[in-house]
Amino acid sequence: MKQQGIVTFSGKRIWVIGASSGIGQACAKALLTAGAKVAISGRRVEQLNALANNALIDQALVLPLDVTNNLQMNQAHQMILEQWGGLDLLLFVSGMYVPMRADDFNIALAEQTIDTNLLGPMRAVAVVLPAMLQAHTGHLAIVGSVAGYSGLPKALAYGPSKAGIINFCETLYYDLLPQGVSVHMISPGFVATEATAQNDFEMPALITAEQAAQEILQGIQAGEFDIHFPKRFSGFLKLLRILPYPLYFWIMRRFVKI
Ligand SMILES: NC(=O)c1ccc[n+]([C@@H]2O[C@H](COP(=O)([O-])OP(=O)(O)OC[C@H]3O[C@@H](n4cnc5c(N)ncnc54)[C@H](OP(=O)(O)O)[C@@H]3O)[C@@H](O)[C@H]2O)c1
Repeated sequence: MKQQGIVTFSGKRIWVIGASSGIGQACAKALLTAGAKVAISGRRVEQLNALANNALIDQALVLPLDVTNNLQMNQAHQMILEQWGGLDLLLFVSGMYVPMRADDFNIALAEQTIDTNLLGPMRAVAVVLPAMLQAHTGHLAIVGSVAGYSGLPKALAYGPSKAGIINFCETLYYDLLPQGVSVHMISPGFVATEATAQNDFEMPALITAEQAAQEILQGIQAGEFDIHFPKRFSGFLKLLRILPYPLYFWIMRRFVKI
């Protein structure tokens, strides 16, 4: 059994959470260009309005929210149902990254990271899933990261939040495939955005937000569960994670200088 893709985005009702910058903004732009109806969320209203102003009238729906707030998530979903009567694709992109090592472990920032990166997508799925289950159709796409594959330097809070996304998506896929609801787990490598601008090291296989959006949207169209890119980097990390621990840690210490 293979899950459904989306043949064309034209006319589809899509909710992009995290559309105010970076990868999410690039996805929202591409979807608007493809003729989809796009609800755009994030906290920065000005950025969302600027995006909507470049779209056709009634094509974009601006729904500002904080993903750590259940009530705002519910209200935004209600607006989508009132305006469009349903939702075909939830594309959850929002996330935060604060570099952190064990010698500067900050529990307040770790809690905020888990709340945003792991509980945020869970909140969104909780509000959209009942209607999709009832209709036996729909798509859930969630942006995790290759940082969730295995322990990496400077990712003491970010890494676990993204590892949780992988497990969440795997379990959703297991449960939802027989129900006709598609799940797309998205694991980007390094993408040039506001989030990575703070990195003080050379990022291997760095791609643009537009290239990332293209990979994501093509993967969803093809019905892929495991959307990871760029393959030359994500494929290598996939290989590393199946190595025995002594070998994995030896390679990391030998070659990763951050
Ligand atoms: N860039 C990379 O190399 C890379 C690699 C792997 C995975 N990722 C993942 O890709 C996703 C997008 O990141 P990006 O690189 O495009 O970074 P970005 O430009 O900083 O975008 C982050 C997005 O998340 C939103 N966001 C953050 N906290 C939020 C909150 N509490 N409520 C609502 N929205 C919130 C931001 O909107 P507001 O600030 O307006 O709320 C913004 O739209 C993240 O999940 C990130 O972990 C990025």
